[in-house]
Amino acid sequence: MDPLNTNELDYRPPSNVSLETALVSPIHIRRAVTSDSVRLSELTKRFFSYIHISADHVFERIKTGVVYFVLERSDVDGTAELVGFIDFELNDEPNPRHAITEKPPLPAQKTAKILGLCVVPELQGHGWGKKLLAAALSEAKTTGCTQVVMLVEESNATAICIYEKAGFVKRGKLAQKIWGKDVLLYVKPL
Ligand SMILES: CC(C)(COP(=O)(O)OP(=O)(O)OC[C@H]1O[C@@H](n2cnc3c(N)ncnc32)[C@H](O)[C@@H]1OP(=O)(O)O)[C@@H](O)C(=O)NCCC(=O)NCCS
Repeated sequence: MDPLNTNELDYRPPSNVSLETALVSPIHIRRAVTSDSVRLSELTKRFFSYIHISADHVFERIKTGVVYFVLERSDVDGTAELVGFIDFELNDEPNPRHAITEKPPLPAQKTAKILGLCVVPELQGHGWGKKLLAAALSEAKTTGCTQVVMLVEESNATAICIYEKAGFVKRGKLAQKIWGKDVLLYVKPL
């Protein structure tokens, strides 16, 4: 699938949302621009409260190559709201700061590191997380990455489910906790 093909990303209303509501609030995925920084910083605070990333910091990240894909809902009055995102960075060093316990380090190769993925609660469970992930994987492949890595809390069953369904394989658990949590390293070859 080409995730940037708008036909494939067209909103299909879930069964509990009327067609009328869906039509006035179309949702699509697009690449973020620096003017999205404030809202991206708000979403980061909301979903990843342990990470403190100001709007200025998001602005700098976008300018320096961190890629964000955003989920945007447009309303009939012309306003648009960001309701989710995925971000990742390109890197030649796939290994996390803390070693994993079960396996040796991954070989260095051009790698996309997924940093965060979120969808607002009212839109969860309708495939948007999967589509954001598909957009990131496609972009990573296009830019020459041969693998994608991500860290996820061991207790985050929903996220692990999405990543495993997308072909990520657990590499192991980090030897040290991060923010007091057990964290897993997942890898997917591209
Ligand atoms: C993780 C998150 C982005 C998922 O977004 P989403 O739009 O609800 O996910 P999707 O609807 O695309 O679901 C993708 C798959 O996960 C499964 N899934 C969704 N919610 C699930 C749940 N609560 N438990 C188990 N599986 C679940 C779905 O079955 C789906 O697979 P399928 O299409 O083969 O049936 C969303 O729950 C979220 O924002 N969570 C808070 C932030 C977070 O934890 N981010 C991940 C850490 S980086």
